[in-house]
Amino acid sequence: MADLTPATKLVPTPEDKFSFGLWTVGWAAADPFGSATRPDIDVIDAARRLADLGAWGITFHDDDVVPFEVGHKDPAGRDEILGRLKKVVADTGLTVPMVTTNLFSHPIFKEGAFTANDRDVRRFALRKAFRQLQLGAELGATTFVMWGGREGAEVDGAKDIKAALDRYAEAVNLLTTYITEQGLDMRIAIEPKPNEPRGDILLPTVGHAIAFSYTLEHPHLVGVNPEVGHEQMSNLNFTAGIAQALAAGKLFHVDLNGQHGPKFDQDLVFGHGDLLSAFWTVDLLENGFPGGGPTYDGPRHFDYKPNRTEDFDGIWDSASANMRTYLLLKERAAAFRADPEVQAALEKASVTELAQPTLGEGETLASIVEDRSTFEDFDADAKGRRGYGIGALDQLAIEHLLGAR
Ligand code: GCO
Ligand code: MN
Ligand code: MN
Repeated sequence: MADLTPATKLVPTPEDKFSFGLWTVGWAAADPFGSATRPDIDVIDAARRLADLGAWGITFHDDDVVPFEVGHKDPAGRDEILGRLKKVVADTGLTVPMVTTNLFSHPIFKEGAFTANDRDVRRFALRKAFRQLQLGAELGATTFVMWGGREGAEVDGAKDIKAALDRYAEAVNLLTTYITEQGLDMRIAIEPKPNEPRGDILLPTVGHAIAFSYTLEHPHLVGVNPEVGHEQMSNLNFTAGIAQALAAGKLFHVDLNGQHGPKFDQDLVFGHGDLLSAFWTVDLLENGFPGGGPTYDGPRHFDYKPNRTEDFDGIWDSASANMRTYLLLKERAAAFRADPEVQAALEKASVTELAQPTLGEGETLASIVEDRSTFEDFDADAKGRRGYGIGALDQLAIEHLLGAR
């Protein structure tokens, strides 16, 4: 087994491209049932701490850094705060790969933002997003995440879904037009979530968001930012979801965290939910599809919450835990792929055979229809008796995960 001493393997480097939302470590742990359990921290100081821990990038909502009122009405105050942020970025060498807009906290957004029934709210939301898009571009961000937490309803009759999707498309089209007209190096990543805070949220899964992206004016500028917990809240397979997005050229960003199945959004540390699923996720992100194809080279972004039970030390321990877990899984996934027994199991299950087109070179529809060996003379029962041994792949993954190989 490879050397996993903390001094070597588990120390993050900029090449690992680990990034954190400032709202993650900055969460003071208020929840719907209780007040904050930690004092507010200065997120600009938090960025320095993340850099010390080995993070490569930070991401933020406008309101994480500049309070809503200051951002709305106090340009000098906004400039001063942003000056401090820019200094930290310059001092530490941190990147700002992604930014996003808070269109969910202020009461104005209680009925929606880009899809609010009230047109004034939609116009305000657009202006708020343009400002954050522009700021992100100035800081070098190339991804603009759109998480529509309030875009939805609790009462089916309260939202005209067709009109809401039209307005959603109108908003994204305006944002991509802004990007195009200003010549920004920026793409939009829609972050799906099925529910919470709304009873039901529009574009609830990766599949919905990808389908929606093809209806837009600049589809090449619009992809997805899937989050582990959000797909698992819908009882969906996160790894399969990002795989389809990657294959479609739509995996612009990822939110890594942990979740124990369909329940409220837990935002646990990455791997602190379904560990085997986290292994397959890292295997895909690091090693790509077994049969080749597009690979992911974007940020490994953690969107988690330090447990409400923790003090300040717990914040930093949990931030490190995300990176340590990822690095462990990366090391284990590399060992898995290099294991001859894994190669043999992949062979037995014909996993790489799937990359071969079903029709042979030069074969046509007419020739397969005429080929008696594919049907009339084919022994379906014999093929039906074939074993694939796919369970061995999960067992091998577990043995690698548990350090038995
Ligand atoms: C959540 C979401 C958010 C978004 C963030 C970026 O469930 O609260 O995951 O954390 O990722 O708002 O837009
Ligand atoms: Mn979440
Ligand atoms: Mn998220």
